[in-house]
Amino acid sequence: MYLTPTKADKFSFGLWTVGYNGTDPFGGPTRKGLEIEDVVTKLAEIGAYGLTFHDDDLFPFGSSNQQRETMIQRLKKILAETGIEIPMVTTNLFSAPVFKDGAFTSNDRGVRRFSLRKAFRQLDLGAELGAKTFVMWGGREGAEYDHAKNVSGAIERYREALNIFGEYVTDKKYDIRFAIEPKPNEPRGDILLPTLGHAIAFINTLDRPELFGVNPEVGHEQMAGLNFTAGIAQAIEHKKLFHIDLNGQRGIKYDQDLVFGHGDLMNAFTLIDLLENSGPNGTPAYDGPRHFDYKPSRTEDYEGVWDSARANMRNYLIFKERSKVFRADPAVQQALRNSRVSEISIPTLNPGENYNELIADQSSFEEFNTDEYFNGKGFAFVRLNQLALEHLLGVK
Ligand code: GCO
Ligand code: MN
Ligand code: MN
Repeated sequence: MYLTPTKADKFSFGLWTVGYNGTDPFGGPTRKGLEIEDVVTKLAEIGAYGLTFHDDDLFPFGSSNQQRETMIQRLKKILAETGIEIPMVTTNLFSAPVFKDGAFTSNDRGVRRFSLRKAFRQLDLGAELGAKTFVMWGGREGAEYDHAKNVSGAIERYREALNIFGEYVTDKKYDIRFAIEPKPNEPRGDILLPTLGHAIAFINTLDRPELFGVNPEVGHEQMAGLNFTAGIAQAIEHKKLFHIDLNGQRGIKYDQDLVFGHGDLMNAFTLIDLLENSGPNGTPAYDGPRHFDYKPSRTEDYEGVWDSARANMRNYLIFKERSKVFRADPAVQQALRNSRVSEISIPTLNPGENYNELIADQSSFEEFNTDEYFNGKGFAFVRLNQLALEHLLGVK
């Protein structure tokens, strides 16, 4: 059945997602934490293929080497038993008090050096476990007060850190690439590299830009009022979509981390249509993990946690199926032609034409009838969108 996830769907979950105990800024836990064996076993059972984690999710900050090693061995054992993979790892550089003014961009140089060392350790562990992506979410890299942070200095320090990591994985021959995860704010008042666009521009200033891409999160772009699907399309165009965090967000407010599909429904549908169908000849445009970074709401008990985990995957598969049916519908194909959607792929100048020839072409300007565009030559985009909505809702 097309709604039953399999490992081939490449669904992965953060240990901090299904493991979330319900703590928020206004209240403590509403559930017990889960043991690593329970999480991995259950993920395998519901059809996921991968687990991702921050160092501190597996062994708490400040663990002794022996405690750390014990947890790594427990993780390896349960991975071997279930076949669950570790496609991505990341470092917690935001929870401990030492990171209160950031990690790689703290004003305190000692904190910056400590942060590099903490990240190296997690890189080594990620390489050992076969992770191919190292996510960098700089939640504390920012400020609340403009005078408190020299932003260009902070950008220089962030660049310094990323160049060191690029050198480190190259020297160690690790098969790992880095994915920067933008977020506009929360926990800091303003976070460095707040959007996809900021991150992509920054990546192009690094020593080894080919090792760096982005890990965009649905809710983070939407918190800034941006269109996630459009941002992903640009990231794909730049060949920078290394990883993706799927979840749900309802408008410009705090980071909700809802189930994927429980936020902006149409944008979730167009996102999956883009990821699954916009590569060459309608093939997927992205082949990496479909990673869910959501929080099971604190209203839920453990049955609700696993219901919500399943809902993420089920919604993805619903959108995927609906988008195939949408694309195959002759009425949609006609609507796409009427809206001239594929015409954007034709270069504006003719093959070999230069601007002198364009200027000499009377039909392009002198004879071009702009009056026709008043009360005529509509693009019929609304009809196309209505067809998309009807397919999404299963009316078609
Ligand atoms: C958030 C972030 C995080 C990161 C994760 C990876 O809570 O806003 O999305 O969940 O993705 O910490 O580093
Ligand atoms: Mn988030
Ligand atoms: Mn995330």
